[in-house]
Amino acid sequence: MNFTNKVVLLTGAASGIGAATAVKFSELGAKLAIVDRSKEGLKKTAENCLKHAKSKDQGEILQLVGDVSQPEDLECIAKQTIDKYKRLDVLVNNAGIMEDGTIENTSLKQFDCMIHTNLRSQFYLTLLLVPELLKTKGNIVNTSSICGMRSFPNTLAYNISKSGVDQFTRCVALELGERGVRCNCINPGVIYTNLQKRYLDEKAYEEFIKKAKHTHALARYGQPVEVANVICFLASDLASFITGHSVPVDGGRHAMTPR
Ligand SMILES: NC(=O)c1ccc[n+]([C@@H]2O[C@H](COP(=O)([O-])OP(=O)(O)OC[C@H]3O[C@@H](n4cnc5c(N)ncnc54)[C@H](OP(=O)(O)O)[C@@H]3O)[C@@H](O)[C@H]2O)c1
Repeated sequence: MNFTNKVVLLTGAASGIGAATAVKFSELGAKLAIVDRSKEGLKKTAENCLKHAKSKDQGEILQLVGDVSQPEDLECIAKQTIDKYKRLDVLVNNAGIMEDGTIENTSLKQFDCMIHTNLRSQFYLTLLLVPELLKTKGNIVNTSSICGMRSFPNTLAYNISKSGVDQFTRCVALELGERGVRCNCINPGVIYTNLQKRYLDEKAYEEFIKKAKHTHALARYGQPVEVANVICFLASDLASFITGHSVPVDGGRHAMTPR
């Protein structure tokens, strides 16, 4: 995999899967624009990227503080990326949030926030940047979840947002394929990040993470770098004949059936 002279825009890069993916792209030679809500988090990721950069020619990393659920922020992110680099080769729509909630206790506000953050953001940032991706015959990798392929109780809005990501990915792949732009998504199982720690207390998180031993065929949870590797593969020329695909990075969880 080689991203020398390629420009990658990656959201949700201050933490977890996004932070690991930014470092991986940097190791592989990419020029990066990274997005998140946390200025401090982005700074830390940028420092790690520079430490691991393949070459000095990759230059400074563009750090864009913004909220992907806000259309005006997405417009600014797209504009600043193109103003700086004059091109885009890879768009990674990764930022996301997760919360508990059923059909009986999810408020309309929570539902809208989940959809706007996890799904509408991917739609709008992609729409804004398709003209640039067509010029470079670039590609898109969206972060979905195993929850996009399977249904789990008590994460209703999250599951729906991620199913939307899988469908969005296939539609974009069909619409842009003939013009040389690929679009895929990854569907992680339980990965050790801050995602669930933001809404579960310490004890509940420990129980949740322990359960991965029984819910994943590989009998463990995953690490962010194991997802980053697959995102970079899909974005690379090694995946030149893969589009419209949802790739589970889930230790076999998608294949499990309770018995
Ligand atoms: N970890 C898992 O088990 C798992 C499994 C399947 C799928 N995923 C998906 O993987 C992606 C990355 O999650 P992660 O596990 O790496 O979690 P994470 O450690 O929480 O990282 C997600 C990053 O996205 C940022 N973000 C969230 N909402 C945002 C917004 N509106 N605007 C800008 N940035 C925003 C978060 O910032 P804040 O700190 O401000 O929220 C955080 O820095 C998500 O799409 C998630 O759904 C994760």
